Amino acid sequence: MQEYDVIFIGAGPGGYTGAIRCAQLGLKTAIIEKYNTLGGTCLNVGCIPSKALLDSSEHYYNASHTFAEHGIKLDNLAVDLGQMIKRKQEVVDQTTKGIVFLMKKNKIDTYFGLGSFVDANTVKIAKNEGGEETIKGKNIVVSTGSKPMAFPSMPLDKERVITSTEALKLSEVPKHLIIIGAGVIGAELGSVYARLGAKVSFVEFADSMIPTMDKTMGKELQKAVKKLGADFYFNHKVTSVVRNGDEVTVNIDTPKGEQMTLTGDYCLVSVGRKPYTEGLNLEAAGLKTDNRGKIDVDDNLRTAVPHIFALGDVIRGAMLAHKAEEEGVFIAETIAGQKPHIHYRLIPNVVYTWPEVAAVGYTEEELKELGKSYKTGSFPFKALGRARASMDIDGLVKVLADKETDEILGVHIIGPRAADMIAEAVVALEYRASAEDISRMSHAHPTYTEAFKEACLAATGNRAINM
Ligand code: FAD
Ligand code: NAI
Repeated sequence: MQEYDVIFIGAGPGGYTGAIRCAQLGLKTAIIEKYNTLGGTCLNVGCIPSKALLDSSEHYYNASHTFAEHGIKLDNLAVDLGQMIKRKQEVVDQTTKGIVFLMKKNKIDTYFGLGSFVDANTVKIAKNEGGEETIKGKNIVVSTGSKPMAFPSMPLDKERVITSTEALKLSEVPKHLIIIGAGVIGAELGSVYARLGAKVSFVEFADSMIPTMDKTMGKELQKAVKKLGADFYFNHKVTSVVRNGDEVTVNIDTPKGEQMTLTGDYCLVSVGRKPYTEGLNLEAAGLKTDNRGKIDVDDNLRTAVPHIFALGDVIRGAMLAHKAEEEGVFIAETIAGQKPHIHYRLIPNVVYTWPEVAAVGYTEEELKELGKSYKTGSFPFKALGRARASMDIDGLVKVLADKETDEILGVHIIGPRAADMIAEAVVALEYRASAEDISRMSHAHPTYTEAFKEACLAATGNRAINM
């Protein structure tokens, strides 16, 4: 029987990153994946394919809506969804193959099959190629990720009533796509199909899009998505979803207590994701899940059984690829005897719509709730030369800083390339910069990042230059 220092069950961003770090630290490492490709949700049916379709649909939207103003004439513009999906799949295939290469390069043993605990040090693999193998680990990491959440009132048939996984490989552009949940997946995949010409309707429990982010972001994002022709039903509650042939009817309670229905040809259920532990046989290792299906871990990401760790979507915290990656590295370094640290508050959150939304640190609502005295500085992209040149004038940067010390507490951006811009804000918060510090740093002109500097100037004595 093969014996390892560390076994990872699940080869998503948390699992494969952790495995690589273990190998770098000289630990004999194995990784088990139940599908035949590595990379987990993120590479196969999450981050990467959704961004590929976001990019393709954005090219089409720009070609049909902004090229003429740039002085570029195009005739016979059309969407070839089959080609778009094919290109997306090629990007996915290249990326997942890259992980196979990384496993080989780092001499990590890869097993394809369902992993399940036999006891707290032994894992059985029901191999995809047939047969079983049992391996032993001094340490085991559960990195099994998550699956889309669904409610009995919204039965998924994966053809017309779909999750993000099916929405990434539709064979036609929907005529009317009804999206339940205007969170991150709803916003991103709703943007894809709205840009390609679908009518999109959002039905959302809460009172805004992306309701857990700073409220200003949700409001601004709604304006942008509305420009794509979307409708919004906030504070509305879905009571049932019924498919009839090629038609889907969504029954809804309005905030006034009345009933309404929406009829479309597809319904995307994007109401969150749930931790995935099916088939793991956790009990055999002396583990169980909490009432939300998550595996409990302590501050060192150890479960109730100290040599079994867990990370990523299957434990508490944000369901983000880069959070899972940090945790993979954290576990590897902990096993190697180091004392790593993760600053959870400073994990950035990004929505890849256009304009993009990106944030780090506290929201204004959280600061109010904490009773913290703060000041704000905002700067709109429309006042920026770079944004006017590229015709990306929607959105703003909002900086929240401590009223007394001027330390930056939160940065919220909706605008062009916000996903990349947020990195500067993460550095600023990690090094506990003040708004004044950023105000005094030279930012290249013309760039979108000048908006961050200007928002910091606005936060320190209302001294933005270009507004
Ligand atoms: P996962 O990536 O879910 O990987 C877990 C792996 O474990 C899977 O491959 C699974 O098959 C395997 N597994 C499960 N059980 C077993 C078992 N018993 N034996 C063997 N293998 C098993 N996050 C971002 O940060 N940025 C984004 O842009 C982004 N976009 C997204 C878009 C969509 C449409 C979706 C759905 C998600 C997106 N996410 C994004 C979230 C991101 O994909 C997850 O947070 C991330 O993949 C979690 O990583 P993980 O390693 O915890 O688990
Ligand atoms: P989400 O939590 O972002 O949004 C779900 C939305 O559905 C919420 O706004 C919620 O209020 C609403 N909702 C819940 N139940 C409802 C109901 N019965 N009726 C109407 N609305 C309801 O979850 P989502 O969009 O499914 O994404 C899952 C996770 O995947 C995210 O939390 C995120 O961590 C990750 N993800 C990250 C991305 C990124 O980083 N860019 C992209 C896509 C997903």
